[in-house]
Amino acid sequence: MAPVALSAFIAASAASLVAAQVGTFPATPLASKRFAYPSGLPYKADTENLVRGIQTGYNICNSTTESQDSLCQTGFVNSVDDFCLWGAPKPNSIVGDTEGEAVAWCTKPGRGTRLIPEGALKGVQFMRTPDYVQVVGYIDQAMINIQHGDYGGEMDPHGADLRGNPLGGLVYSNSWSGSNTSFTQVIEWHNFMGSDQFCFKACDPSKTNAAHFCEHTLDRIGCAFNAPHAAQTGVFESCEGDNQDFPGVYTTNGAVVTYKQPPEELGAITTMPYTARIPASSNCVKYTSSELFVALASATPNAGAVTTSASSASSSATGSSASRSGTSSGTAAGAASTSNDAGVVVMSGFVSVLGVLFSAIFLS
Ligand SMILES: *[C@@H]1O[C@H](CO)[C@@H](O)[C@H](O)[C@H]1NC(C)=O
Ligand SMILES: *[C@@H]1O[C@H](CO)[C@@H](O)[C@H](O)[C@H]1NC(C)=O
Repeated sequence: MAPVALSAFIAASAASLVAAQVGTFPATPLASKRFAYPSGLPYKADTENLVRGIQTGYNICNSTTESQDSLCQTGFVNSVDDFCLWGAPKPNSIVGDTEGEAVAWCTKPGRGTRLIPEGALKGVQFMRTPDYVQVVGYIDQAMINIQHGDYGGEMDPHGADLRGNPLGGLVYSNSWSGSNTSFTQVIEWHNFMGSDQFCFKACDPSKTNAAHFCEHTLDRIGCAFNAPHAAQTGVFESCEGDNQDFPGVYTTNGAVVTYKQPPEELGAITTMPYTARIPASSNCVKYTSSELFVALASATPNAGAVTTSASSASSSATGSSASRSGTSSGTAAGAASTSNDAGVVVMSGFVSVLGVLFSAIFLS
């Protein structure tokens, strides 16, 4: 879609969005709902049937639901060997189209979810800081049903209609309970998926700044600004670290400045006024992926998923950083970048525009 047509469309959608508020918002925003794990889990955290439809999966997940077809929408961020990512239910999905129905793909069996297939994870850094835990890394995203080359977007418990992406998606962690078997509901979290990269931050709900560290409004500037990190491909490690700056907040010439994401109608974000500071880390312990992800050996991708190794000849994509023109959402390919992180910035940024656009369609 040409930029002019796109911006006109967004403006029109925004107008009808206002007009369509009845039937759009739930009685209680997802981020205001509290459920103990596992005893208090509802079958569906979102029980409404509004403009975006119903919650497509469920939150009670058990041995009956555990398979590569699970529609479990209860995820975890526990440790370097125990976390989930929001992937798609069906192969070759575009995050911007399917973020509302994302399902949990996890590294550990036993919680009723899909398993991330062996070999999909190409590098993982888990980071524990005073205010949050975060897992960042590299992935063959097609193996969790995100189309090869899609720049992706942001999942969080808010969304334009406050029902979350995915609708009704819940996140838990055992990071702050002192016990691996005791879980805290994560109220504020964000998960960026796309360009074969991911970052998933879970903010400690007992801390006053959880909503700031897990900011959900900067959906167009990707992991490098929302979850600045030092993850590397081929490295699997668990670290402790200092807190990041709040996403969007930076210091220049001694002044603290807050970045404001420009309106979508101004087009793709191609430059940023700052580089996010990567906090100091320590006590990094390195692992091999096979020792971390023993249980994944038996997990398979959904039939029909076109993974990196299988698609290089048939797709226009030639690699993770050059793969951005091959998808339907890749209309910002002119802003292609060679750096993985920058790619996430510009590309996931643009696709988030499309994500918002699709939401606007559903909301209007
Ligand atoms: C297992 O999960 C499914 C799907 O949420 C649910 O319908 C079923 O009642 C659960 N079974 C048990 C024994 O909790
Ligand atoms: C708790 O989980 C961590 C990370 O998976 C693991 O290293 C540790 O051994 C577990 N502790 C117990 C008591 O099971």
